[in-house]
Amino acid sequence: MPPPVKPTGDRAPVVIVDDVHVEYKVFATGKRPSAADRKSLKLRGRGKQMRTVHALKGVSFTAKQNDSIGIIGTNGSGKSTLMRAIAGLTPTSSGAIYSQSRPSLLGVGAALLKDLSGERNVILGGLAMGFTMEEIEERYDEVVSFAGIEKFIDLPMRAYSSGMTARLKFAIASMATHEILIVDEALAVGDRKFRQRSEARIRDIRDNAGTVFLVSHSMQSIKDTCSRVIWLDQGTLIMDGDPDEVIREYHKAQDK
Ligand SMILES: Nc1ncnc2c1ncn2[C@@H]1O[C@H](COP(=O)(O)OP(=O)(O)OP(=O)(O)O)[C@@H](O)[C@H]1O
Ligand SMILES: [Mg+2]
Repeated sequence: MPPPVKPTGDRAPVVIVDDVHVEYKVFATGKRPSAADRKSLKLRGRGKQMRTVHALKGVSFTAKQNDSIGIIGTNGSGKSTLMRAIAGLTPTSSGAIYSQSRPSLLGVGAALLKDLSGERNVILGGLAMGFTMEEIEERYDEVVSFAGIEKFIDLPMRAYSSGMTARLKFAIASMATHEILIVDEALAVGDRKFRQRSEARIRDIRDNAGTVFLVSHSMQSIKDTCSRVIWLDQGTLIMDGDPDEVIREYHKAQDK
């Protein structure tokens, strides 16, 4: 018998998350500090008691080409942990993650060198992504104008506001074409105009056969950019589906 024919038009899986658990082991001080302790500002030193935080509890889903997936959930629900696990930065305690190419994580904490000017950071960022100096030169003006920080480009990044830093970071990252792009709250600090520009950029990536994960507390950003939404709560995947439907259920749960 011939093998079953895959239906045409089926999009290829790009990231498979299979029953992933992540546990963080941290040292706690071992007791709840009393009011007297706090008043005396006593330093209690390093804790002795190991505590396990079970941040992801058996999360599974498959992301396909052209998917742009919004990740929503309350603070501490495991969104960043899941993104870091997909990017290969946080090890899983059990389960597995398969991805077709190396995902790029664009997070609030992505490394830029604060003592160097914006200009130097564009060049270093470009080199780090594998561009030659000529290729960086070709893209330089566009990156700076996308970030909209022409007037500040020769100042050390220490002098940038958090919004300006986030804009430059996003602009540098979008020099490259990403097959899998993970954006964790990086757009949240930008102003409205920048947000719209970066959302358009995310849609471009998606339309060019890329896969995007967007973590955001802004349901508007999620609705404007995502074709699918995953809702996490206390490390568990609660819902995965149509953005309007998932967001509606999420809001219902919040209002309870
Ligand atoms: N490095 C770490 N060490 C120990 N525990 C951690 C660490 N990072 C996160 N956690 C814990 O894991 C859980 C999930 O955190 P995570 O940062 O993934 O949440 P989040 O959904 O991204 O929240 P937010 O909306 O606030 O960004 C939380 O209980 C948090 O305290
Ligand atoms: Mg987070």
